[in-house]
Amino acid sequence: MANLIRLDKAVSQVTDLSRSDVKRAAWAGRITVNGEVVTSSSTKIQANDVLCLDDEPLHEPGPRYIMLNKPLGYVSATKDGEHPTVLDLIDEPNKSKLHIAGRLDIDTTGLVLLTDDGQWSHKVTSPNHHCDKTYYALLADRIVEDAVAKFAKGIWLNNEKKRTKPAKLEVLFANEVRITIGEGRYHQVKRMFAALGNQVLELHRERIGDIFLDEELQEGEYRPLTPEEIASVQ
Ligand code: URA
Repeated sequence: MANLIRLDKAVSQVTDLSRSDVKRAAWAGRITVNGEVVTSSSTKIQANDVLCLDDEPLHEPGPRYIMLNKPLGYVSATKDGEHPTVLDLIDEPNKSKLHIAGRLDIDTTGLVLLTDDGQWSHKVTSPNHHCDKTYYALLADRIVEDAVAKFAKGIWLNNEKKRTKPAKLEVLFANEVRITIGEGRYHQVKRMFAALGNQVLELHRERIGDIFLDEELQEGEYRPLTPEEIASVQ
């Protein structure tokens, strides 16, 4: 027998409507199933039935991929009791289904990727997939002379049993650098500079793999990834 699902469940899965919203919408005659108005939200429907709300067909959205320019003060979480979250900046239906592919600290700015495709985000964050991340960092003190060599060798972080993987450090000015890392340990960049006796004052993510933060995006703005950007994560 075909799998049956309640109308209110089916509609709420693909819209922002709660089940009670769907009940009201059905009562108001706004929902059709295969062209027929259905006023009871407990009606059982089949997966291949054509659902419309206000004459607009409803269907399961495909996977979504978004880049956001994260401002200071936002947490990389979907919910937080204290601070605004990056999800608060997203105005999309069903946004609670999105998750963050590689978090940034509350005081780090720049490129954040959001998606509802778990396999894709795993490739972004897993060190095995070599999806390097590049950051601009402003430091409290001048960078020490042997920092490039030390980062290239890997750094012993406080309380860790393994060196970091080799990291690429590009010195821009005495206390400004661009750093590329292939892992995402907790507060990794800040801890790497702390291990050299320095301190990160500003941190901004510019790149994840072949995906660069779009310069057109103001802080807090976002856009969908292009098909090429999505396919670049492998
Ligand atoms: N490393 C950090 O220390 N913080 C971030 O937000 C990202 C990388």
